[in-house]
Order: sequence, then C-alpha cells, then structure tokens
Amino acid sequence: MTARRPGSATPPGPDTVGGRTARQLLRLCEVAGLDTADSEAYALTLTEMLGGVAERPLDLPPAWPTFLSDDHTPVEFSLAFVPGGAPTLRVLLEPGCGAGGLARNGRTGLRAVRKAARRWGVATDRLDELEDLFFPPSPKGPLALWCALELRPGGVPRVKVYLNPAASGQNRAAGTVAEALHRLGHREAFAALPPGDRHLFFALDLGDWQEPRVKVYLAHHDLSAAQAGALSRMAGGAPPAQTEAFFRIATGDEARGPDDAGPVRRPVQSCHAFTETATGLPSGFTLYVPVRDHVRHDGEALARATALLGHHGLDPTPLVRALDAVTSRRPEEGVGLIAYLALAHQQGRPPRVTTYISSESYEVRPPVGLVPAEAATAG
Ligand code: TRP
Repeated sequence: MTARRPGSATPPGPDTVGGRTARQLLRLCEVAGLDTADSEAYALTLTEMLGGVAERPLDLPPAWPTFLSDDHTPVEFSLAFVPGGAPTLRVLLEPGCGAGGLARNGRTGLRAVRKAARRWGVATDRLDELEDLFFPPSPKGPLALWCALELRPGGVPRVKVYLNPAASGQNRAAGTVAEALHRLGHREAFAALPPGDRHLFFALDLGDWQEPRVKVYLAHHDLSAAQAGALSRMAGGAPPAQTEAFFRIATGDEARGPDDAGPVRRPVQSCHAFTETATGLPSGFTLYVPVRDHVRHDGEALARATALLGHHGLDPTPLVRALDAVTSRRPEEGVGLIAYLALAHQQGRPPRVTTYISSESYEVRPPVGLVPAEAATAG
C-alpha cells in the first residue's frame, strides 16, 4: 500500500527543499511514534508531492513567495494532542509551488493530489465537483491549493485539501464559499457561519475519515477574548469560557489601550466544520492564534504552548522533542518556530490542542524587542 516507486527512494540532498523537510519529517515521525517503514514512506510522499522543487538548493531563493510559511518554505508541520496517546503528526505542503504562476500552481496541485489519492485509493469526487469554482483560468491570490496529510500508522495518510475562496477575487469570496457549500449538500451552512472579516480557506477532507468535514476558515482582526468565545456555532460543545481561556493563554492576554496600535498582527482565525446536512449547523469549531505575533521569541511561545497543554491535561514533552527534531537552534534564538496554537472542538470528542511548527528551511526570524541583557543570553 505504501507503493514505493523504484528509483525514487534516494532522498534529495540535505541542503535542498525536499532533503531538508524530509529529514525533519523523519525525525518528527519518531516523536509521533511511527515505525521506520511508515516514516520512510511518508518522507518519500512529501518529496514526491513537492515535485521538482524538492531538488531545489536552499541557497537559491524560494521558487514561489508562498504564504504557507513566513520564510516561504512550502512545508509546515503540526502536532495534534489528545488525551491518552501519542500526538498525531501532520504535514501541510504546497504541491504547485514550483510551477510558476498561480494558475499553474493550482493545476499542478490538483494533479499531485489526484495522483497521490489514486495511489492510496482515496476518492476525489468532492474536489472534482468544485474545480470550476476554485480554479478559474486567471486565479487571484493568495494561494491556489495546499494539501495536508495526517500521518497515521499504516503508510496511508488522511488527506485534506485547502482551497482559496478569493480565487475569483476577494469580492467574490463569500459567494464562492456559499456556492461550494451548496454543491456539497450543505445548503444551510453558509447562513450558520459567524461574522468574520474575510474568508481565508475552504477545505475538504478526502478519503478514509470517519466523518469527512467541509471546513470554512474566517479571519478576525482585533478580536477580544469574549468575542472569540462567542464565535462557535456548534450545537453544544465549545464552551465560551474554554475558548476564552485558550485565547488568553495563547495571546498572553495583552491589554492594548485605544491609542496603542501595537505591532501589526496576523488575524486570529476560526474554522467551522460541517459533517452532516440535517441540522445545518457545524459539528466542529477551531480557533487559531498566531502565537508568533504575540511573543518576543519561541521560548515564550513554548511556555504558552506548555501552559495550554497543561490546562488540558496534556503532556508537552512531544512538543519539546518536536522542536529539537526540526532545528538545532534554541527557542530563544528566534521567533516563528511555533507559528500557531489552536484549540479544536469536534462533537463527541475531547478538545484537541494543535501546535504548528515551522520548517525554517530558509530563514529564522530574529527575536523581537529584547532588552540588551536578554539579547545577550538569548545569543
Ligand atoms: N502561513 C499562513 C498564515 O500564517 C497560513 C497558515 C499556515 C495557517 N498554517 C496555518 C493559518 C495554521 C492558520 C493555521 O496565515
């Protein structure tokens, strides 16, 4: 089932996009408790899905200014923590990042997803139904297609595809989301969404999921903890107080006065997951905080993550090991290694804490605003 192609087993060199990220992935697989066969199959999948970009030397500039990650590495890792087991490792990637231009990026991405899906016996019909909406002849930014793989034991991942609601222009994004939901049978879903500032992503689960989700992501600028707590539209679940506590821990609960514009921060994001059409309501709610915009360095981000995991009775050890697996730098030496913290609610399951981990293949962002004494010890 892991279908290793003869001749493709040699990974690209360590100083290439594919070589660096595949080596990070192999070490992360160990943290997540995957066996050697699965880990090698997944590392190979990553380089195959990146296509020609996998071989690109890291001393050349990024092939495409992807906003998948801050330094334009077309790969990001995440660890999802639930009580009573090892965390699940996921990898997000942009298969079309080397294709040249957004239209080709999308076409290449579609081809890569369909090819991988065929190999795994995963159906893509729901994606096929939406092709004209998200892949117009002259697409607009900021992305065309991203793919995330949940690396479960057995060598066949669960697949998620992320599409751009603004493909036909930002002014058409809401209409595109409404039409896509409608086509997939979620006729009341659009009306159930909370207010937001922008539609960021439209995502689909493909393949062997117990309950495949259709997900809509919204951006929220200048949100307060109380406003964050009120965003869930799930029937039951996502208690506001729990979301507020998460928001406070992840942002550090900074008070910002009316005259203090503060640093420019990425918006908080909410995700609304639909799995059934009977109620018209989402069955999942996730809040994402760009923790890297709320800390001076990753030492602080790690402390926030540790506090959050502790709050949910989860062991932070795998996260510490995961950071060591992707980089040899100390957390205090940069900011952005931990990109986001998220709290996910899905009906009938315990809440899940997710930590997003940057590859930093191209660049480490220096720590911000350290006083000289701290900068000296942060080296
Ligand atoms: N890098 C982008 C951002 O910061 C997109 C992105 C990557 C993202 N991973 C994410 C967004 C996890 C939310 C959560 O917005």
